[in-house]
Amino acid sequence: MCGIVGYIGARNTLSVLIKGLECLEYRGYDSAGVSFIQNGKLNVIKKKGKVKELYKLMDDSGYDLSEKGKNSISAGIGHTRWATHGAPSDENSHPHMSMNGKICVVHNGIIENYAELRSFLRKKGYEFASDTDTEVAAQLIEYYYTKKEHDFEGSIRRALQDIVGSYALCVLCVDYPDRIICAKKDNPIVIGIGDKENFIASDIPALIEYTRDVVFMEDNCILIMTKDSITIKDVHGEVLDYEVAHVDWDTDAAQKGGYAHFMMKEMFEEPKVFEATVAPRIKDGDIFLEHFPCTKEFVSNINSINIVACGTAYHAGCIGKYLIEKLCRIPVTCTVASEFIYSDPIIDEHTLTVVISQSGETLDTRNAMREAKNRGSQTLAIVNVIGSTIARESDYVLYTAAGPEISVASTKAYTTQLGCVYLLALKFAKVLGKITPEKYADYQYELLEMPSKLQKILDVQDRIQRFASAEYNAESIFFIGRGLDYYLSMEASLKLKEISYIHSEAYAGGELKHGTIALIEDGTLVVSPITQDELAGKMESNIKEVSTRGATVLAIIPERFAEREFSCNEKFIIPDCDELFAPILTALPCQLFAYYMAVNKGCDIDKPRNLAKSVTVE
Ligand code: AGP
Repeated sequence: MCGIVGYIGARNTLSVLIKGLECLEYRGYDSAGVSFIQNGKLNVIKKKGKVKELYKLMDDSGYDLSEKGKNSISAGIGHTRWATHGAPSDENSHPHMSMNGKICVVHNGIIENYAELRSFLRKKGYEFASDTDTEVAAQLIEYYYTKKEHDFEGSIRRALQDIVGSYALCVLCVDYPDRIICAKKDNPIVIGIGDKENFIASDIPALIEYTRDVVFMEDNCILIMTKDSITIKDVHGEVLDYEVAHVDWDTDAAQKGGYAHFMMKEMFEEPKVFEATVAPRIKDGDIFLEHFPCTKEFVSNINSINIVACGTAYHAGCIGKYLIEKLCRIPVTCTVASEFIYSDPIIDEHTLTVVISQSGETLDTRNAMREAKNRGSQTLAIVNVIGSTIARESDYVLYTAAGPEISVASTKAYTTQLGCVYLLALKFAKVLGKITPEKYADYQYELLEMPSKLQKILDVQDRIQRFASAEYNAESIFFIGRGLDYYLSMEASLKLKEISYIHSEAYAGGELKHGTIALIEDGTLVVSPITQDELAGKMESNIKEVSTRGATVLAIIPERFAEREFSCNEKFIIPDCDELFAPILTALPCQLFAYYMAVNKGCDIDKPRNLAKSVTVE
């Protein structure tokens, strides 16, 4: 949901800003822009479209964007936008300059009372050049700066008293060329600390090339950054202490590394990141969940589990619900986070709320977690981004080790989220005495075997590619499954629609005949994961029902079903495993299928239309 960068130091500021925006483009790509102070003048350059359009505009205008370029800029900020208020256009692009050219602002978030503030400012003589809520912030800060406070920091603090909403704001003032001031509420800001240089970004990949020492800014704080200093204050101006964290990601973790798309690279990383998530937590025949007390006393005190998440993370939660109920016999609800807070949920201090999020910043998920906490629930976050808001605000954290996931379509994060929910379900079952020592050992072995089985799928991925090349003109695709295969189908369907724009639905195999089968006609494509022993016979009937009505069927099945008769046109065989663990493997061919369908259709794989990676609006 919009990416922000800022830089002060000796490097070529424009190069740092543009490269940072490229790294953050997954957060929004409707427009991009930069603002900087050079020779005492505040400049803005912005353009509708992706960062490469901005790059071209600046290059054509004679700006030196090379790393080695000379730097005569004292401070610079940049922005890549995911439009909320105002259509994507040059005018609505950030940065926004105040009417008298004193202040420039980039913003991630939503100013909810912008209409009211705009009419207040209009009465004071301010004219507006865009339809955005952000421009109001620039004008309001300038209003307080020129009319009342005459002090950069004080005018921001005063403006924040009027602003209702969420924001990561980065502000430049022409009279203070040596600094950037930021304010944060409900949207991420990471500060990168360098030697006689400092950085700001919405996310770590934009900084990692320059520094690994970072500070995750807290809500309701103001940052005053110069090249030599970082000062963080609360809204009243009290100086606060901060902790510097060290990030140990590879520099190439956020690069495509020879793959055509981040999504492809990230799918190929699945064996490695699944292993990194699971293997270190399995030792001497037991599972260890660091920082999470899995004592008998703790687990016995839990009467119910409440899982909340959005999108792909929600689908990982659905698998978690199935597993925990099956293995531990604890009732579990899994709810879409945006619905959870309005559902008057039945939870109390005996409920454990498990929050799943790749980014750790999704606003709906954060709100759901806060609601659960308010009702007395303890919270465990399964999160990928270290130091993210959800990780910091939850009682306990279990990190997935997926590394940076850049493609908007989540792939490796989902697989590692599954890794964590399997570990959790198994550990709870062990602590509650619901699993025999033999089964517990077998299941740990299953998890440890997954990386090599995922690799086997990647080794034959060209079979999925061939199938997709033949079928990419499909207008509507149904994923059908039963039990775990149904939950997996939900994720497979989401992946396909978000990157290929093909209409798709996931249906429980047995439910299709209660209405939706009316949509099946000659040539309709049906993809059916069939991995559950007891349900395979029933699924065979379900795919027969659709194939008799003209559907083309791809069945995804384990090796042990290879010789079995299914009414399908094509089979994709995955390695055998205990049926409980099949979703971890089945996800990958479904992700590859979505990928190749989208590639064949010429879609923008890593930046699908209308989407952004981290959704920090409700
Ligand atoms: C996944 O492919 C999606 N782009 C999306 O559904 C995502 O999983 C969802 O927005 C939740 O994000 P989070 O995991 O960062 O909270």
